[in-house]
Amino acid sequence: MSNTLSEMRVLVTGGSRGIGRATAIALASAGANVAFGHHDDDAAAAVSLAEVQAHDAAAFSIKADVSVEAEAIEMVNCAIKGLGGLDVVINNAGILHEAGLLDTTVEAFDKVIAVNLRGTFVVGREAIRHMMQQGSGRVINIASDLGYLGRERNTAYCASKAGIGAMTRAWALEFAPRILVNAVAPGPVDTDMLGAEVMSEAQRQKESDIPLARIGHPEEIANMVTFLAGPQATFITGQTFGVNGGSVMS
Ligand SMILES: NC(=O)c1ccc[n+]([C@@H]2O[C@H](COP(=O)([O-])OP(=O)(O)OC[C@H]3O[C@@H](n4cnc5c(N)ncnc54)[C@H](O)[C@@H]3O)[C@@H](O)[C@H]2O)c1
Repeated sequence: MSNTLSEMRVLVTGGSRGIGRATAIALASAGANVAFGHHDDDAAAAVSLAEVQAHDAAAFSIKADVSVEAEAIEMVNCAIKGLGGLDVVINNAGILHEAGLLDTTVEAFDKVIAVNLRGTFVVGREAIRHMMQQGSGRVINIASDLGYLGRERNTAYCASKAGIGAMTRAWALEFAPRILVNAVAPGPVDTDMLGAEVMSEAQRQKESDIPLARIGHPEEIANMVTFLAGPQATFITGQTFGVNGGSVMS
């Protein structure tokens, strides 16, 4: 990939695996300097770091739980200090809890909201605080097609992802024209999140309803994020882009 993001300073949350790892690598290969967050998967984070550094990018990882406000704030500050500023933040960290509504406890619901929605809120707030002083910046939030479609046995997840879409539009309005805020809403993507626990036989059947007739690859989400971070995306804000093989059409 060409150096379209040369010297850009980027923070990706949830960079140890899946979409976050592919995104960190794609951004580094486009010339960005990358900090990425991760939670409890140190070995996976080390693999990501090596792959990002292989692109000659300045890169480092930060261990932090985005559902703990102090840790999320510290992660953003650490990224700003280590990178010498922050041009783009990608709110990608997320979890999924699959259970029927009647079996979903308040604790389980709160946990998903705390990571997916509140984590995005805190990291986004702190990144934007810095970007406003700096005078510019971009925020890219990872939503989900389930924020539109809904899915049985995924109440908290669907609610969190719909909330991310709404929060994206609110921030885009509040911080225009200096900060561009967009979201990417993947369809099903081949990562740990979509592993055996989630992909029941019935759900696998549903994936075959995707017009492009397959599940996506993490790199295909990373490509959209890289575009939105880059010099071609200067007149885009408040949008949520589906990268979903046609599972949602608008
Ligand atoms: N895989 C899919 O099919 C799919 C579809 C739509 C949206 N998404 C979204 O894409 C994003 C990435 O998903 P993925 O499939 O790569 O998942 P994944 O499980 O492979 O990776 C999740 C990442 O989030 C991090 N994380 C989890 N809890 C955290 C916490 N409390 N604090 C900080 N980091 C935490 C993990 O360390 C990991 O790096 C998520 O927001 C997910 O909801 C995924």
